[in-house]
Amino acid sequence: MAWLIILLLCAGNSNARYLDYIHKNSPHLEDTVFSLLVRLQLEEFFDTLLLYGEDCVFHSSSRRLNVSTVLVSSGSSNFDWNFSSLTLILSCSHEEENETNYHTLAKLQRNRRLVYLRGDIQPQSVCERYLQKEQYNVATIAEDFDKSKIVYACRHFKDPNIEEISLLDSTPVFIEQFRNMYGKPIRAVADLLSPRSMLYMDPKTGDMKITGYVANLVNTFAERVNATLELDVLAKKFIVKQIFNMIDNEQLDIGISLESSFRMKFIEISSYPYILTSYCLMVQVPAKLPYNLVYAMIIDPIVLGIIFVVFLLLSILLIYSQKMSWQDLSLANILLNDKSLRGLLGQSFPFPLNASKKLRLIITILCFASIMLTTMYEAYLQSFFTNPPSEPEICSFQDVGSYNRRIAMSALEVNGLIKTNNSHFREIRMDDLEIFDNMPECYELRDAFNLSYNYVVTGDRWRSYAEQQTLFKEPVFYFARDLCFSRLIFLSVPLRRHLPYRHLFDEHMMQQHEFGFVNYWMSHSFFDMVRLGLTSLKDLSRPLAYTPSLLMDDISWIMKIYLAAIVLCVFCFLLEIGVDKWKRWMKFRNLQILNTC
Ligand SMILES: *[C@@H]1O[C@H](CO)[C@@H](O)[C@H](O)[C@H]1NC(C)=O
Ligand SMILES: *[C@@H]1O[C@H](CO)[C@@H](O)[C@H](O)[C@H]1NC(C)=O
Ligand SMILES: *[C@@H]1O[C@H](CO)[C@@H](O)[C@H](O)[C@H]1NC(C)=O
Ligand SMILES: *[C@@H]1O[C@H](CO)[C@@H](O)[C@H](O)[C@H]1NC(C)=O
Ligand SMILES: *[C@@H]1O[C@H](CO)[C@@H](O)[C@H](O)[C@H]1NC(C)=O
Ligand SMILES: *[C@@H]1O[C@H](CO)[C@@H](O)[C@H](O)[C@H]1NC(C)=O
Repeated sequence: MAWLIILLLCAGNSNARYLDYIHKNSPHLEDTVFSLLVRLQLEEFFDTLLLYGEDCVFHSSSRRLNVSTVLVSSGSSNFDWNFSSLTLILSCSHEEENETNYHTLAKLQRNRRLVYLRGDIQPQSVCERYLQKEQYNVATIAEDFDKSKIVYACRHFKDPNIEEISLLDSTPVFIEQFRNMYGKPIRAVADLLSPRSMLYMDPKTGDMKITGYVANLVNTFAERVNATLELDVLAKKFIVKQIFNMIDNEQLDIGISLESSFRMKFIEISSYPYILTSYCLMVQVPAKLPYNLVYAMIIDPIVLGIIFVVFLLLSILLIYSQKMSWQDLSLANILLNDKSLRGLLGQSFPFPLNASKKLRLIITILCFASIMLTTMYEAYLQSFFTNPPSEPEICSFQDVGSYNRRIAMSALEVNGLIKTNNSHFREIRMDDLEIFDNMPECYELRDAFNLSYNYVVTGDRWRSYAEQQTLFKEPVFYFARDLCFSRLIFLSVPLRRHLPYRHLFDEHMMQQHEFGFVNYWMSHSFFDMVRLGLTSLKDLSRPLAYTPSLLMDDISWIMKIYLAAIVLCVFCFLLEIGVDKWKRWMKFRNLQILNTC
C-alpha cells in the first residue's frame, strides 16, 4: 500500500514537473506577456480573463495576474454567459475562438481580444478574419514577442490595417476605432415622416440633405465620427415597416425613424431610449352650441321648479298677511296672484296703503327674490351669448364611439397595442376604430386636421401640432391627457443588431440631450416644416365666414307659444263674456215668461 502511494506521488510529481517544463519553455516570453497584460489592465481595467484554447503562454502568464479566469479550451461555451463588460479575451490561436452561442457572441463583440499567433500566420489576415465576424477590437502577438516586443493591433479604418506597437511606446494598443471612421458610409434610411425626418435640397451645394429632430441626431453623429450617410438611398421613401424589416435583416445600420417600446424585440435592435413621451388621443375640440339653443339651455327644470315653489309660498304669505287671516285663501288667489307674479318678474305692482309691518317685510323678500332672479338670468343669458357653451367632451375610452368620430389608427400601431395587451386599448370597441394599412395615409389625414376622425398622437408630435394651432382662429384638436394608452413610452432609434458603434451612438444621443439640442430641434420642428414647404401657415380650422348671431327665426318657437297663449286668453275672455250674456238672456227670458203669465 505504502509503495503504491509513493509511486503515485512520484508520478504526480513528475507530471507536475513535465507541465512546468512546457510552461517554462520560454520564461522570457511569459514575462513579456505578463508585462503586456499588466499594461493592458492599466490602459483599461479588466477583472475577468476569458481564455480560449488548450495550452499556451497565456495560461501561465494569466495565473500570475490576480484576475479571475475562465478557461474555454473547447473554443465554445455554448452557454448564455453573462460576462462582465470588463473582460479581456485571450486566444491561443486565431482559430480557437469558435463561439456559437448567439447571445454570448453579441455580448463579447466589443471586448478587447489578444491573439497569440504561431507559425507564419500574417496578422493582416487575422484582422480580416475578425472583421468578417464584426469584431474590431483585436491585437495579435507573435511567437517572437519576447524578442521583438511588438504588438500588432488591427486598425480597420486605416490602410494598412495593422499598426505595430512596441511595448516601449506609450501608444495605446486598443483604441476606440469608430471615433473616426474616415468617411466610411453608414447605411441609413429615413421614413421621412415630418417633423422627425424631412428631406430637402441644400441650396448652396445642391445636395439632398435631411433634417428633423431624429435626422439631426444621425446627421450630427455621422459628422462626429467622420462617416458619411449614403444620401441616394436616403432620398427613397420607405415606410416604417420596411425600415424595421431591413433592420431585422441587418441590411441597415441605422433607421432614421422612431420605434416605440410597444414593439417587443425592443432593446436588441434599437438604441437607448431617445424620447420619453406620452401616447394619447388627439380629440376634436367639441363644437359650440348654436345660439338658438342657448335660451333652451338656461331653462333648467329644477331651477324653474324652485322658482315656482317660491312663487307659491310668497303668494300664500301675501294673502295671509294682508288681513292676517286665511279668509281669501283659494287656489285661484294663489296661482293667479298678480302681486307675487309681477314682483318676481321685476315689474311694479300696487303697494297696499297702510300696510302692516309683516306685509312690508314680505314685500321686501319678494323684491329681493326678484332682483336675484332677473339678474341671474340676465347674466346667464348674456355670458352664454358671448361665449356659447360647448358640447360635452369625451371622458373615457368606452364613449369614444358615441360622438360619431372614429379613431384613425395605422395597423402597425394597432398591432403594437394588441401585442402589449394594453388595457386602455381593450376598452375601445373595434367598431370605433378606422384602421389604415398605409401608415402615411393616416398621418396625412392627421396633418391636414381632417375632421372626419379623431387620432392617436405621441407627445413629441403633438408639440408641433400645438405650435401650428396657435396660428388658427380657434383650436381644432386638443391633446386628451386623460385618454392615454400610455403616459410613458420610450421611443428609440432602430439600430442593427451587431452595430459595433452602438455605444458611441447612445453616448452621442445622451450628450445631445444634455446640451439641450433635442429640445431645441423639437421646438423648431414646426417652423422647419413650414420652411421646407411641408406645411403652410394657413388656418386649417376652416373658420365660418360669419358667425350667425341670434335671428328672429331662432326664437320663433317662443313667439309661437306666446301667440297660442294669447289666443287661449282671448278665447277664455270671449267664453266668459258669452257665458255672462247667455245667463242674462236666460234670466230676461224667464222674467218675460213670468210677466206673460
Ligand atoms: C496577487 O495577490 C497576492 C495576495 O493576494 C499578492 O501577494 C500579489 O502581490 C498579487 N499580485 C499582483 C500581480 O498583484
Ligand atoms: C445570462 O442572462 C440571461 C438573460 O439575462 C439569462 O437567461 C441567462 O441564464 C444568464 N446566464 C447565466 C449563466 O447566468
Ligand atoms: C466550431 O464549432 C463548430 C460546431 O460547434 C464545429 O463544427 C467547427 O468545426 C468548429 N470549428 C473549429 C475551427 O474548431
Ligand atoms: C475624415 O475622413 C476623411 C476621409 O473621408 C479624412 O481625409 C479626414 O482626415 C478625416 N478627418 C479626421 C479629422 O480625421
Ligand atoms: C391581458 O390582460 C388581462 C388583464 O389585465 C388578462 O386578463 C388577459 O388574459 C391578458 N391577455 C393576454 C393575451 O395576455
Ligand atoms: C377627410 O377625410 C375624408 C375621408 O378620408 C375625406 O372624404 C374628406 O374629403 C376629408 N376632408 C377634407 C376636408 O379633406
